[in-house]
Amino acid sequence: MDAQTFEKKLTQKRKGQCLSCTDLISIEDLSKKDIEMIFDLASSTEELLKGNMKKIGLLKGKTQINFFLENSTRTRSSFELAGKNLGADTINISGDSSSMKKGETLLDTAITIDQMQPDIIVIRSADSGASRFFAKNVKAAVINAGDGWNEHPTQALLDLYTITKFKGKNLKGKKLVIVGDVLHSRVFGSLWRIARMFELSVTVCAPYTLIPSNLEDLNIKHEPDIEKALKDADIVYTLRLQTERAAASYVPTLREYSKTYIINAKRMLLAKPDAIVMHPGPVIRELDVHTNILESDKSVIPHQVFSGYCVRFVVLWLLGENRKNKTVEKRLYKQF
Ligand code: NCD
Repeated sequence: MDAQTFEKKLTQKRKGQCLSCTDLISIEDLSKKDIEMIFDLASSTEELLKGNMKKIGLLKGKTQINFFLENSTRTRSSFELAGKNLGADTINISGDSSSMKKGETLLDTAITIDQMQPDIIVIRSADSGASRFFAKNVKAAVINAGDGWNEHPTQALLDLYTITKFKGKNLKGKKLVIVGDVLHSRVFGSLWRIARMFELSVTVCAPYTLIPSNLEDLNIKHEPDIEKALKDADIVYTLRLQTERAAASYVPTLREYSKTYIINAKRMLLAKPDAIVMHPGPVIRELDVHTNILESDKSVIPHQVFSGYCVRFVVLWLLGENRKNKTVEKRLYKQF
């Protein structure tokens, strides 16, 4: 299929529909219908993104700035490539190369970046709330690519998209077991929200030191014993110990943590025979997940990465048109 035919196919499938939000900061910015539309369009991008000619022009003439204040491999490269494949001009600003290193505030950085008239800003920050703050202060559509311990909505989208590929579209009652450093995880922050929307049953498996205090209010079960938690699981979702957020101080030793919580082939015998293992990456081999799972067909981790590329392609397309419609918060300056 050539580029023009692809554009036509995607545009026809979209049927003029828009997302109900202008920025994507939390998974709660999206309705279930929005998410289903994203998945439907993402499935049509797979052929394009796996093909020889990946470039179309749906965002031609638009500008995308990837503002990453924290490290990233898959999130940043998939956003950048997807933007380029859509025909947008993309640039990257990283933490080390930005003027925030010289003391500029986040607000002044936001105002400055917005004066380049970008249509989309993809932001990753170590500070929870930074992307919402940005969104309020810029005309560009802001996409949260992970903020502190808070949320990482496109990760949850790509995760659920991957789950539907292996477990079908009706996920009601499927047992999702999330293992690892839940407390410091923005991936968890978005995952439990999307899981609730699609009625999965969620169990968290982690030591008491690594779970948030409000799990019960969220109707999420905590089972610290890995052998019990894995029983009859459909999906085992492993999370990295966030050592850059001091998570190592919440466990006696990394070796003890790994022995107690690592997902390996023996433990996976307790889950359903067709259970899948997921991880947002980066995986710390032999600490979070054993090689005997990573190199088995139980692991769908590489599929997650490709799903991220497709889902982010769609999100960029749907949000890339909003600059002219967005209003920016009025700032009031106190007179002295
Ligand atoms: C996650 C992140 O940065 O929040 N990775 C990702 O985006 N794929 C998870 C992690 O770093 O552990």
